[in-house]
Amino acid sequence: MGGMKWNIFAGEKRQDGLLGIRTVGTRDWEDSNIHYNRYEPTPYKALDVLSENYKFENINKVVDFGCGRGRVVFYLHNRFHLPMTGIEANLRTYEEALENLEMYRSKSKHITASVEFKHGLAQNYKIGKEDNCFYFFNPFSVHIFRKVVQNILRSVEKDKRTVDLILYYPTREYEDFLNTTPFTPVREIRIPGATDEKDKFIIYRFKEALERIRLALT
Ligand SMILES: C[S@@+](CC[C@H](N)C(=O)[O-])C[C@H]1O[C@@H](n2cnc3c(N)ncnc32)[C@H](O)[C@@H]1O
Repeated sequence: MGGMKWNIFAGEKRQDGLLGIRTVGTRDWEDSNIHYNRYEPTPYKALDVLSENYKFENINKVVDFGCGRGRVVFYLHNRFHLPMTGIEANLRTYEEALENLEMYRSKSKHITASVEFKHGLAQNYKIGKEDNCFYFFNPFSVHIFRKVVQNILRSVEKDKRTVDLILYYPTREYEDFLNTTPFTPVREIRIPGATDEKDKFIIYRFKEALERIRLALT
């Protein structure tokens, strides 16, 4: 078991090395806040499975809410050349994302799409009209998640468009809350070989045209 864990760790470090970044490890909050979760990166294996199945078609810009050291941001930028924004509340973690950006950019000058990090709270981020895919790996409590989803819905009301939410390792609370919103689950992507039932992605979609029809009928 110890050997297997070490292998996973070595594999993750190797993948970091290919992107020129350092994202392995965790960071707990110094003053424990029940609403904000600690840093832990999405496993590279999960990102590979997501990319093979979801393919990021029709996506203009991805926002990672609680981006940590930026693994998801760099991975998707590198693989799909997508414009990316990462929002991180923990100052030290945000600074590590910026150090990673410097190293990553020296290796990826040929990719013209933007990569941006913002230090701040996800619930205060002003959603841009080009943002149409939002990534969440258990960054915070459902209380904060509700505020972020409300901001997304306000943005699509103003600038009509279809948007996707990608949840990795989804909690029951997030799923229950989304069931009360106009978002519908469209895909579930399991990680092959995973023994943990939560080790999966769920994609939720807000379909602009469908919502207009629903409102017209009520
Ligand atoms: C589980 S990590 C996920 C990291 C990254 N998205 C990934 O998948 O590799 C969650 C991150 O969310 C950050 N976070 C927690 N609460 C936040 C908030 N209210 N606004 C922004 N970031 C937050 C934490 O500091 C942590 O880095």
